[in-house]
Amino acid sequence: MGKTISSCLLPALISCFYLQLQIGTASDTLRASKSIKDPEFIISQGGVFRLGFFSFANSTNRYVGILYNQIPVQTVVWVANRNRPLKDSSGILTISDDGKLVVLNGKAEILWSTHVTNLVPNATTAQLLDSGNLVLNNGDNGGSSSLWESFQHPSNVFLQTMKMGVDLKTGRKVHTRSWKGPDDPSDGNFSQGLEPFNIPEGVIWNNNQIYFRTGPWNGHIYIGLIDMNTVYLDGFYVVADDDGKSYYETYKYSNKSMLIYYELDYEGRFVGRNWDAGKGDWINSYQILRTDCDFYGKCGAFGICDRMKRPICSCSKGFKPRNAEEWSRGNWSRGCFIGLPLCSAKEITTMAVEEQGKVMMGF
Ligand SMILES: *[C@@H]1O[C@H](CO)[C@@H](O)[C@H](O)[C@H]1NC(C)=O
Ligand SMILES: *[C@@H]1O[C@H](CO)[C@@H](O)[C@H](O)[C@H]1NC(C)=O
Ligand SMILES: *[C@@H]1O[C@H](CO)[C@@H](O)[C@H](O)[C@H]1NC(C)=O
Ligand SMILES: *[C@@H]1O[C@H](CO)[C@@H](O)[C@H](O)[C@H]1NC(C)=O
Ligand SMILES: *[C@@H]1O[C@H](CO)[C@@H](O)[C@H](O)[C@H]1NC(C)=O
Repeated sequence: MGKTISSCLLPALISCFYLQLQIGTASDTLRASKSIKDPEFIISQGGVFRLGFFSFANSTNRYVGILYNQIPVQTVVWVANRNRPLKDSSGILTISDDGKLVVLNGKAEILWSTHVTNLVPNATTAQLLDSGNLVLNNGDNGGSSSLWESFQHPSNVFLQTMKMGVDLKTGRKVHTRSWKGPDDPSDGNFSQGLEPFNIPEGVIWNNNQIYFRTGPWNGHIYIGLIDMNTVYLDGFYVVADDDGKSYYETYKYSNKSMLIYYELDYEGRFVGRNWDAGKGDWINSYQILRTDCDFYGKCGAFGICDRMKRPICSCSKGFKPRNAEEWSRGNWSRGCFIGLPLCSAKEITTMAVEEQGKVMMGF
């Protein structure tokens, strides 16, 4: 009797298993009240990215994230529950009854959720695109606008076609946020994005302090970036939309088979990575913050930074260190002041500004 039952069940179990594999490999979309359970995943249509569960070496914490799918090195480009890891493999990613995408643990506690108001929760789909964007929509055709996109809520990676920017009307900003450590995706100290100023510039913040500025965008490059006109950054551009009410930077390369991304690493470096199929690993293709001069305000006001000189800081013509003792110890942060009689001060300020302008344009 028992034997009969189990041989009856076996084909059912096998087809169930295949069904699961199908869900794991064929679909790029999650639908309302359908979930994936650890270790299942969905894969973008062309197979470039997958969305699912992962962990780091030497840790039992589990995360839901987007990873490159076709390469042998685990490469995470986005993490949902970055600040609240799953403590075991009982996690579930699902669209909740109210139409939000949520990460649940085994006790059905919500560890992460998209914050959206959804008027047609039963029609909601979450689709992973080959760009690496995860898009929450009402229905397969999606209507004209998405409810939520991972590209508007980045982790530490800036992927092609992402729009990193600021909308001055709504105050909405799209920034990357560094991880805390190489194997800890929780919020780190650094963020990166675009700041409009008078002319837009790329900025890295250390918490709320400006840590690095690219210099203004001149229509082709950020004039403060030494290597910006190399091939690696050719695909970059800055766009002003809506009569200067919103700005964003983005990039796109014509060579679609090239795997490349930019990451704000946990130490605040903005690093480009290229997949080298021959080596079977990522190679760093671009890095800013490579010299002391790359740090914002290194030589202070009216100071000039030249990484080829020792010391690297000097004062603009007609200026003197504000604090000679600190300056001689290599602490240049207070910069320089006009060290000449007041009567000629205005003239000299003009000179210094012109000179600085020249230095900037010379990159
Ligand atoms: C994991 O731990 C082992 C042993 O302590 C160590 O050799 C290895 O480098 C660690 N791996 C990572 C990625 O930290
Ligand atoms: C969604 O589906 C559930 C179960 O099928 C149903 O009870 C609920 O009324 C539906 N909600 C809407 C807004 O259609
Ligand atoms: C495009 O990128 C791939 C992978 O890096 C490379 O092998 C190929 O030569 C590139 N094609 C062109 C036209 O540069
Ligand atoms: C982040 O900031 C905290 C507090 O200032 C500091 O202790 C920590 O070392 C910083 N981490 C990195 C990677 O800079
Ligand atoms: C450099 O000088 C500034 C201003 O006096 C001070 O706040 C800062 O702590 C100094 N930095 C170092 C590394 O001594």
